Amino acid sequence: MTTIQSNQNLPTKINKLNLNIIGVGKVSSAMGILWQQSNHINVQAIFNRSMSASIDLQQHLPHIKICTNLHEMPPADIIVIGVSDQIIPLMAEQIKQIDWIKPETLLIHFSGSLSSKILINDEQKALTGSIHPVFAFSHIDTAIKTLPGNLCALEGDEQAIPVLQKLAQWARLQPFPINADQKARYHAALSISANFLVTLNDYARKILTSLAIPQDLADKLVNQLMQQNLNQLQQYAPVEALTGPIKRGDTDTIMRHWEALSDEEHSLYRALAWQTLSLTSLSEEKREQIKSIATAKD
Ligand SMILES: NC(=O)c1ccc[n+]([C@@H]2O[C@H](COP(=O)([O-])OP(=O)(O)OC[C@H]3O[C@@H](n4cnc5c(N)ncnc54)[C@H](OP(=O)(O)O)[C@@H]3O)[C@@H](O)[C@H]2O)c1
Repeated sequence: MTTIQSNQNLPTKINKLNLNIIGVGKVSSAMGILWQQSNHINVQAIFNRSMSASIDLQQHLPHIKICTNLHEMPPADIIVIGVSDQIIPLMAEQIKQIDWIKPETLLIHFSGSLSSKILINDEQKALTGSIHPVFAFSHIDTAIKTLPGNLCALEGDEQAIPVLQKLAQWARLQPFPINADQKARYHAALSISANFLVTLNDYARKILTSLAIPQDLADKLVNQLMQQNLNQLQQYAPVEALTGPIKRGDTDTIMRHWEALSDEEHSLYRALAWQTLSLTSLSEEKREQIKSIATAKD
């Protein structure tokens, strides 16, 4: 086993670092394959709750050892905890029982909202870190091809940072630092941009299909407009990219929208209209008029 040392020489080590994966999910599988391809990492052993995910990963990495419990895992330089966020604290508890963990062993997880500090307690001695790829992992095979080049957030023990940077590079990701204590807020922003875009898309499509507009036309209309606006946002700040009746202070149109929407549809329209006002340069009086329309009784 190659020892991770807490010094600046580590990233230039030529020997491969041995890595074990606990929780063979979409992220750990894709990252494991990319790391193995880098020739700097040997993904040597994996442990998962069910056997099927382990067997799938072994198809990509035939040399790996599939373990049926944590204690079968051979000593490693790096332990990757790839379980879902709710299970990470439980898994961290179980990892404490592994007898070969040394102060220089690096434990990492991929969570965007949890700090790496949750991986150990005060008495335990190991390095901890987190690599959060900013990417939606829906399928492992697609991720292997399209993940390289994307951003990833890093945080962890000071001595672990050079290794985390190397791990990001070896997966062909672009790392940036994140404050471990601010991850919940950081992750909320990313979830808003990724998940709520999809929610908004669905919200608009359903309003159109309620008018007997064919589904494929509704899909096209909404996707086309969303894509145009995303393209604008590549070039312009949100205040410059925004168009529409709220930007113009067109209270008549906003009133017509409000009257045409159902009670159920009102709450999201109201929240978004209020948030959108912060992107306009409307007078205080105009803002109040718009707010009063979008608070009129449902
Ligand atoms: N998905 C994304 O787009 C994404 C993006 C960035 C970061 N992340 C982060 O990456 C991490 C993993 O997410 P994921 O999407 O890869 O999760 P996932 O695909 O749901 O995989 C989780 C894996 O953990 C295994 N597992 C669960 N409980 C276990 C236990 N007690 N013992 C052993 N294995 C157990 C599951 O086993 P089974 O096969 O038996 O279910 C599954 O293979 C999370 O921290 C997440 O926040 C996810």
